[in-house]
Amino acid sequence: MTKLHPDVSSILLSEEDIHEIVARVGAQITEDYRDKNPLIVAVLRGAVVFVADLLRAIDCPCEIDFMAVSSYGNDVKSSGVVRIMKDLNTNIEGRHVIVVEDILDSGLTLSYLKDLLEQRGPASVEVAAFTIKDIDGYEPPLTPRYVGCHIPNEFIVGYGLDYAEHYRNLPYVGILKPEVYS
Ligand code: IMP
Ligand code: MG
Repeated sequence: MTKLHPDVSSILLSEEDIHEIVARVGAQITEDYRDKNPLIVAVLRGAVVFVADLLRAIDCPCEIDFMAVSSYGNDVKSSGVVRIMKDLNTNIEGRHVIVVEDILDSGLTLSYLKDLLEQRGPASVEVAAFTIKDIDGYEPPLTPRYVGCHIPNEFIVGYGLDYAEHYRNLPYVGILKPEVYS
């Protein structure tokens, strides 16, 4: 039985749930990119846990590179401002790129990143989001090709997702107690 962190009110995705998501998305990518040697672009830091598992669930030649962006600071709401803190080392001209992110909330970060990468002449750019936050009446600016799962409009932590850089190490995804960030 997984021990619940005291700042977490409940577990949204257990280790078993996560394992199933990773296997399914990995199989989809394998099928779609078998002869394409895709470049997996992990968005630091939140995607690092997901991408490490996903990479091992992809059963075809592929490469990995990293980008770091900053959109939130230590807050829980998007500022809408995306800053590139670390760019790719790989030239993506003519490459098939898959951007891997931990969560799509407003979608501002991912749509900004996708536009930026598309300006560099890649063969294709698709997005794999581990989670999508469903917000009533809100239509995100981008629909990822690969989606781990949809989650309710709560602040979640664990499996790479942080609040103020903490909780990334939790092996499950849990809902952060509101009193922790309010
Ligand atoms: P967006 O630009 O609003 O889609 O925000 C994307 C980024 O915000 C993610 O990469 C996360 O770093 C952060 N974020 C949004 N919602 C959550 C959450 O519920 N928990 C942890 N981080 C989140
Ligand atoms: Mg974050």
